[in-house]
Amino acid sequence: MSKFIISILSIALLLCICYISYNELVIIPKIKQNSVLENILNRKSVRNYVKGKEVTDEQIEKILKAGMAAPSARNLQPWELIVIKDRKTLDTLAQKSPYGKMLSDASLAIVVAGNLNTEGVSDFWIQDTSAVTENILLEVESLGLGAVWIGGYPREDRANMIKETLKLPQNIEPLNIISIGYPTGKDKPKDKWNPKKIHYDKW
Ligand SMILES: Cc1cc2nc3c(=O)[nH]c(=O)nc-3n(C[C@H](O)[C@H](O)[C@H](O)COP(=O)(O)O)c2cc1C
Repeated sequence: MSKFIISILSIALLLCICYISYNELVIIPKIKQNSVLENILNRKSVRNYVKGKEVTDEQIEKILKAGMAAPSARNLQPWELIVIKDRKTLDTLAQKSPYGKMLSDASLAIVVAGNLNTEGVSDFWIQDTSAVTENILLEVESLGLGAVWIGGYPREDRANMIKETLKLPQNIEPLNIISIGYPTGKDKPKDKWNPKKIHYDKW
């Protein structure tokens, strides 16, 4: 009788191991792959927000973590992130930005800037901070929030306006302002898939 019970338990254990392995190796990777692509395809510039709805510090930390996980040339991480929650500052930025009027309805904004005093820094700071920006935009989307990239550097007038408003030191170059809030649902993702832009091996 005990032999019979041991055999049954062994078979049950084997089935459990097979089930877990199948999930780990086949099903879970598939789900993960799809959710990343779905998030990327759902991201859109969101310029219409539900006014007055607060984004929590926990959500903000997740957004910043995503940003700082970006790749950078020689891993120099030559970035600085300025979180703006103050209503007056958001309104001032909205007022002074011809292309950033949506800031007046935003819950917060993050300025992604290059720190030109970073040891070994090169022109790659622009790509590095762009990677930070895209990571932030994607995390914002995954949290059910919405954001838009408002251009700063290399437009001197726009970068100077941000520098003056936020009292940034000379070595801090603002790439953009990311306006963030709760989407009203008006902004929709665009389908940009275009196989004609793909080239294999040679042009
Ligand atoms: C470098 C850069 C600068 C941008 N500047 C602005 C801006 O100043 N104001 C704005 O409303 N959108 C700005 N955008 C957002 C683009 O207009 C938007 O990404 C584009 O229309 C594609 O739409 P999508 O983000 O919904 O896919 C900028 C985007 C990039 C990458």
